[in-house]
This record gives sequence, structure tokens and C-alpha cells, in this order.
Amino acid sequence: MTSAQSPPNYSSRRFRPSGGHRTREASRVRRPAPTTSAAPSASSSERPAPAYTPRKDVVLDVQDLKTYFFTYDGVLRALEGINLQARAGETTGVVGETGCGKSVTAFSIARLIGDPGRVMSGRIYLNGANLLWGLEREARFKKIPGTGRVKVMRSFRRIRSANERMAAVRGRGVSMIFQEPGQAMNPVFSIADQLGEALLLHSGVEVVEGLLRADALARGSGGGFSSTEFVPEAPEDPDHPGQVEVVPSGPLTDIDRMLQAAASGSQTDLRAATDVVAKEAGLASLSPELFYMLRDAGAQALQRRERVLRVLRRRQLTGMQQSSIRHQRRLILLQRALNDLYLKEMKLGKSQLAARSRIAFRMRIERMRHFYFGLWGIKRVAQRPIKNELFWRTVVLLEGVRIANPVQVARGYPHELSGGMLQRAMIAMALSCEPALLLADEPTTALDVTIQAQILELMRQLRDRVGTAIVLITHDLGVVAEVCNRVNVMYAGLIIESGPVHELFRRPLHPYTQGLLASIPRFDQPDKELASIPGSVPNLIHPPPGCRFHPRCPYAMPICKEVRPLPQLEGEDHMVACHLYTAPAATPPETAPAPSAPLPTAPA
Ligand SMILES: Nc1ncnc2c1ncn2[C@@H]1O[C@H](COP(=O)(O)OP(=O)(O)OP(=O)(O)O)[C@@H](O)[C@H]1O
Ligand code: SF4
Ligand SMILES: [Mg+2]
Repeated sequence: MTSAQSPPNYSSRRFRPSGGHRTREASRVRRPAPTTSAAPSASSSERPAPAYTPRKDVVLDVQDLKTYFFTYDGVLRALEGINLQARAGETTGVVGETGCGKSVTAFSIARLIGDPGRVMSGRIYLNGANLLWGLEREARFKKIPGTGRVKVMRSFRRIRSANERMAAVRGRGVSMIFQEPGQAMNPVFSIADQLGEALLLHSGVEVVEGLLRADALARGSGGGFSSTEFVPEAPEDPDHPGQVEVVPSGPLTDIDRMLQAAASGSQTDLRAATDVVAKEAGLASLSPELFYMLRDAGAQALQRRERVLRVLRRRQLTGMQQSSIRHQRRLILLQRALNDLYLKEMKLGKSQLAARSRIAFRMRIERMRHFYFGLWGIKRVAQRPIKNELFWRTVVLLEGVRIANPVQVARGYPHELSGGMLQRAMIAMALSCEPALLLADEPTTALDVTIQAQILELMRQLRDRVGTAIVLITHDLGVVAEVCNRVNVMYAGLIIESGPVHELFRRPLHPYTQGLLASIPRFDQPDKELASIPGSVPNLIHPPPGCRFHPRCPYAMPICKEVRPLPQLEGEDHMVACHLYTAPAATPPETAPAPSAPLPTAPA
């Protein structure tokens, strides 16, 4: 476009001083550019954290987050002060080219950045708890004179306690679907072991209480299901002497119906019947176990009564198993109390050392008093009911992500699964904790289009049912248009544009966003030649000065090479960081799609 053209919808909108972004970013730009060390000042570590008032519905609030990698070639500034919010019951998209820092953002929020990386500064509030509380004391940075290099001195004690604090948050607070499931899963444990561990950690109380309840129910009904219990006491029909009146007894009728449903070959009937039997027995996980046992039996199912009874007897615990499960329950409750304290610390910004030590002491005593439950032979027998229970709960989770043969997959090891199956197993693990925040890093990239739609639907259901805030990282703008409420566009470690998804697709402001949108095929423009953005994401060890996009930007101006553009509001809730909207002489590009242009749609 020529500079004489100036579309009216851009020219009237200028920087609003009240915008929160402006205040933070302005102070950053006025300071000298960070040195190679970029070390936080010593005084900042002693300064008390500013009071934070959580905004309604905002589950995640990331403020001025910086993450650097200290490589041999220099300091790679992967995130250079990003601001991001995710609201309850909404999906927030993060898009951008490869290497722009999407995964590093998710890893930083979950505090999973490993060596040589470090979250340098910023604040990450999850439901009001600052996940970066105490960050300044975890490491010190020292410039090595004459080399331009930085020495990082870590405090491993503080890093360990930060990890313990994060363990309280991960799972129920924040869960993550990793971009590469093969690397995220442990190769030496079966899928059931890995999913079961997550279940026990985050829903342990429900699991053990379910077992104790079912056991009590079995004992209350005279010792539970036994092979003789199902021979009916059939009284004689008084109107027809000599004939026996069949009086249905609950469990008998249910089991017979279930066996008949299995013999009929109808999986829907069988599923309904196993649900009824499991409900009667008081242990929901019996339903998948009975279902998969009887599914392939066909007409032979009627002869499986003994095996059914054996499965049902699983809910009865021996004395040792009962006391082991009670011990486990006490430990889980103590751990829960400890987790609550960690959360309190992060919310108040104040250490609760005395209370924490008390709980840790009680846990030690509990373990010492029942040390024999940790001995190998005893542990195996005592923990068998929990292991069984976790296995069948895992099968239900795998069914939930549409795995056709969940029993085999649960027994399998990561290397035995295809990429898509592994991805779905990991999605099941993340969804099982019903987290407040779900970080989904390219969750559907390895999946077929049909499975992709199902997984997105599952995430949508979780969001609507639990009110989970989802941060969806993806390359696929179609997926963003389909499922996201808000979208953040990242470039070279910065969020350069964000806003409600419809607004951003209808009126993309940043030249980079416009380039991204111009590069996807449109149903309404079948003959249109796809555009591409020349060049690639810059090396983040030596990022370009000023606007990081300027070497690739068709509208670059002299100011773009010197001054980094500040984020500013352009419209109701639409943020953009580009000099085209601040420099008085600049004219915004007019390559944005017409306002009425339809959104690209996700694959069916
Ligand atoms: N462990 C590491 N050591 C050094 N640099 C790293 C490390 N992890 C990430 N980086 C760098 O951080 C930058 C951002 O990487 P990131 O993985 O976030 O990209 P991405 O946007 O997720 O890309 P993709 O879409 O390909 O997944 C890249 O320049 C990358 O080289
Ligand atoms: S600030 Fe300048 S170089 Fe950067 S996107 Fe805007 S116009 Fe292009
Ligand atoms: Mg990535």
C-alpha cells in the first residue's frame, strides 16, 4: 500500500494512557537494554511482592514473564516480558511460527524449564497464587569479567522447595499436554502405572474411600457376593401348590441380566447391565472390568457366572489390606494439608514453615509406625486392591479419549503405542485431574482429523463442565477459529497482538498477524494464491533491535529499527504492539481482510 492511504478504522485509535500494558512496558523501554547477564538486581529480591488482587474469572495471569537460556553461544532470550491471561471456562489460543516461544511459555507457567534455562522475572498468578514466589532467591547471576558471559549460581535447597510447592499446584491446579508425548512419558513404566500414579496423587482420597466403602457394603450385606448367595430361596406359589414362585433378588437379577446381555452380543445392553451390577456392588470400576471380561464371550457368557463372582469379590478386603488402605488415606490427607499450606504461602507471599514442619513430622511418624507396609512382599499384597482399582479407572480414562482397545493400551508401554495413541494417553492423564488450568501444547498435531475433532470436543466438554481455563498452543489457525475465545499472537519471544478471536480474525492489525492469516487457504477464495512471510524467526541470542519483526516487515519504518513498539489497546479489548499505530506519520497497512470476511474453519 502507499503511505497516502489511511483506512479510517485505524487512524482514530491511538494509545490509551489507562491501558495496563502501557504502564509496564513503558518502564521497561525507558530502562537501558538488558545486559548479557540480565540478572535481577539484588535489592529486588528483598522487596516484598506487590499485593495482587485477583480479577474475577481470571484463572491465569502472567505478567512481564522473562525466560532465558544460558547457552555456550550466549544468552537466548526466549521470552522477553510476555503478558497473558486465561479466564475460567474459556480457551485462550497462542499462535506463532516455530521457535517463537510458545512451548517455553507453557513450560515457564508450569515451572518445568530445565537447565540451561531460567525463568528470570515476572509474575505468574494461578487463582491468586504467585507461582514465582521466591524465584529471586533461587539463583544469583554473576558476570564473568572480560568474557561477556554469565555465571549462574543456583540454590538447590530453594529450588527443591520451589519444586515441592509446584507439586502442590500441578495436577489439580495446572495440567499440561506436552507437544512430544514420547519424551513426556517414562519408557520403563506401563501406561496404567503412569496414569494410575497421577490418579492416586490427585484423586487418591476418592480412590481409597471408594474401596473402603465398597468393602463395608460387601460386609454389611453378609459378606458380599459369593457363589451360594445367588441360589434363590424360591418359595412355593400359594395359588399353585407344587410350582415355585421366583422372587427376584437384587444382585441375582442384575447378574443374570448382565450375562444375558453379554450372550445377546449387544455392547450397549452389556454396558448398561455392567453399570447396574457395579452400582449395586458400590464400586464403579467393576463396570469396565466386567464389560471387557464378558464382551468377547458371546453365547459362552452364560457359563461365566463363577468368573463374574470372582471379579465381584475383588471389593472385599483382607484385614491387612484394610489397614494398609487406611494408612494410605491418612498419608494422602496429610499431603493434601501440606499442599494447602504451600498454596497459602504462594497466595500470601509468606512462609508457613512452622505449620509445614508439623505436618511433615506427622507424615514421618505415620510412615514409621507402619513401616512394614513398605516392605516389598507385604506392599505387593497390601496394595493390590488400590492397583486393581487404579488400573480399571485408567481404562475408563482411555475410553474417554476414544482408544478402541483400552485394556491392551493400559497394559502396554510407551514404545508399544503409536504417536497418536500416546498423545491420547497423555491427554487422558491431563484431563483426569480436572485442572483449573490446562496448558495444551499442540495437543492435536499428531492426530487424524477425525480424532482431532473428538479431542477438541473432549477439551470443550471439560471446559464447560469444570470451568477449566485452557491455553491452547497451536500452529493451526483453523483450530483457533473453531475453539478459542481469545487469541495471542507470538513472535520472537513477545506477544505482538491479542484480542477476542472474532475481532482478531476480522481485523488483524499487526503485519505479522496479517501475514499469518494471508498464508492459510480460504474456502471463499479458492483461486487465491497463498502468501508467505519472507525470512524466518530471528536468532534469539542476537535478536534484531527495535521491533523484532522489522527485517521481515513490509511496512518497516526507521523508528522500527531503534525502538521496540509498546503494546497498546486498539479498540475494546484488542492489543497490538506496532509503531504503525503510535507513530504520527505512520499509516497502517490495508492488507487486513475485509471486516465481513468469514472466519477460516477447522477441519471437520
Ligand atoms: N533447552 C533449551 N536450550 C536452549 N534453547 C532452547 C531450549 N528450549 C527452547 N529453546 C529456544 O527457545 C526458543 C523458543 O522455543 P519453543 O520450543 O518455545 O518454540 P515453539 O514456539 O514452541 O516452536 P514449535 O512451534 O516448533 O514447537 C527457540 O529459539 C529455542 O531454540
Ligand atoms: S513496528 Fe514497524 S517493523 Fe514492527 S511490525 Fe510494526 S511496522 Fe513492522
Ligand atoms: Mg513448541
